[in-house]
Amino acid sequence: MVSRAGFASLLGASFLLLLLRGAEPLGFSHRPMTAGDELSAAPSRYLTREERWLSQRLDHFSPTDHRQFNQRYFEFLDYHDDPTGPVFLRICGESSCDGLPNDYLAVIAKKFGAAVVTPEHRYYGKSSPFDSLTTDNLRFLSSKQALFDLAVFRQYYQEKLNSQYNRSAGFDNPWFVFGVSYSGALSAWFRLKFPHLTCGSLASSGVVLAVYNFTDFDKQVGESAGPQCKAALQEITRLVDEQLRLDSHSVKALFGADSLKNDGDFLFLLADAAATTFQYGNPDALCSPLSNAKKKGESLVETYAHFVKDYFIKKLGTTVSSYDQEYLKETTPDDSSMFK
Ligand SMILES: *[C@@H]1O[C@H](CO)[C@@H](O)[C@H](O)[C@H]1NC(C)=O
Ligand SMILES: *[C@@H]1O[C@H](CO)[C@@H](O)[C@H](O)[C@H]1NC(C)=O
Repeated sequence: MVSRAGFASLLGASFLLLLLRGAEPLGFSHRPMTAGDELSAAPSRYLTREERWLSQRLDHFSPTDHRQFNQRYFEFLDYHDDPTGPVFLRICGESSCDGLPNDYLAVIAKKFGAAVVTPEHRYYGKSSPFDSLTTDNLRFLSSKQALFDLAVFRQYYQEKLNSQYNRSAGFDNPWFVFGVSYSGALSAWFRLKFPHLTCGSLASSGVVLAVYNFTDFDKQVGESAGPQCKAALQEITRLVDEQLRLDSHSVKALFGADSLKNDGDFLFLLADAAATTFQYGNPDALCSPLSNAKKKGESLVETYAHFVKDYFIKKLGTTVSSYDQEYLKETTPDDSSMFK
C-alpha cells in the first residue's frame, strides 16, 4: 500500500499506513494502477484465471478451533519444464486476487523454468471465511495468520506437485516468494519466519516500518511535484486553511466533501488526492491544470477542487466517506463490499 500518507504541509499531522483500506486493486482500491498492471503489456493480461482451492485453517494459533475456510489460488505450470525446477510464490495482498497476472514475474518464471502460484489473501475476494465483516468475525484477519496461510499453502502445494510428478513425499523444489507493498512486507517476513520454506524472497516496496508522523513521505511528494507545482500546492494549503477558518462549510462544499464534519478528515482527503497522484505516476493530471490556472490568474483552490472532484473522486472512484473517521468507527457494516 504503500501508504495513505498525508501531505504534511496540508495536514500538519501525520498518518500511519493503513493497510486495510477498502477494495484496493494492489493495495489501493481507488488507485489508478495495480501491481499486475504495471508491466503487463503482454498479449494477455493473465497467465491463468482458472481457480483452484484449498482448505485452510481459520485460526493457526488455536489448538482447539479446527474450523476451516476455502482459500482460492491460481497455478501456472507451463514453464516448469524440469519438475525439480523452482516454484515462484506470488503473494497476493489486500485485494481480490483474480488470476496470475502476465507481468514481470511471468518473464522471469519463463527464464528460470519456474512454476508460478498465487494464493489469495484471507478475507479478500473469494477467500473470505465469513459472509459478514462484524468485528468478531474480523479477528482472524492479521498478517500473522496470513503468513501461516502461506506456509500451509506452500506445504500443500509442494505435496501436490510431488504427487503430480510421482515423487516421494518430502521432495522439495526450490521456492521463492514475491510481494509488493503490503505483500512485499509479507514476503520479507515469510523469509524471516520460515527460512526453511524459501530459498529467497523479493520484497518490493515492502512496508516493514510503520512511521508515526511520516512527514518524509510528504517531503517526497513535494520533491516529485517540482518547485512550481509544490509552491502551488503550498499556496492552496494556505488558502484552504484560511477558508476553513472563515467558512468551513462552503470550502468543503466546493470540494464535494461537505459530509466531512471533521476538518482533519477533509484535509486528509485533499492531501491524499495529491499524494496518490504522485505516488502512482500521474503528476501531470494535477500539475498541468495548476500551472495553467497560475498562468491565467485563475483560482488555484477552485482548480484543485475540480481536480479532486473530477479526477480523484469521479475518475478513480474514491469515496469521500472513506475519509470520515466516523466511518472507521462503524463496526457492524451492512455489506462487505469494501473487501471485494
Ligand atoms: C510531525 O513532524 C513534524 C516535522 O518534524 C512536526 O513539526 C510536527 O509537530 C509533528 N506532528 C506530530 C503530530 O507529531
Ligand atoms: C505418474 O504416474 C501415473 C500412474 O502410474 C501415470 O499415469 C503418470 O503419467 C505419471 N506422471 C508422471 C509425470 O510421470
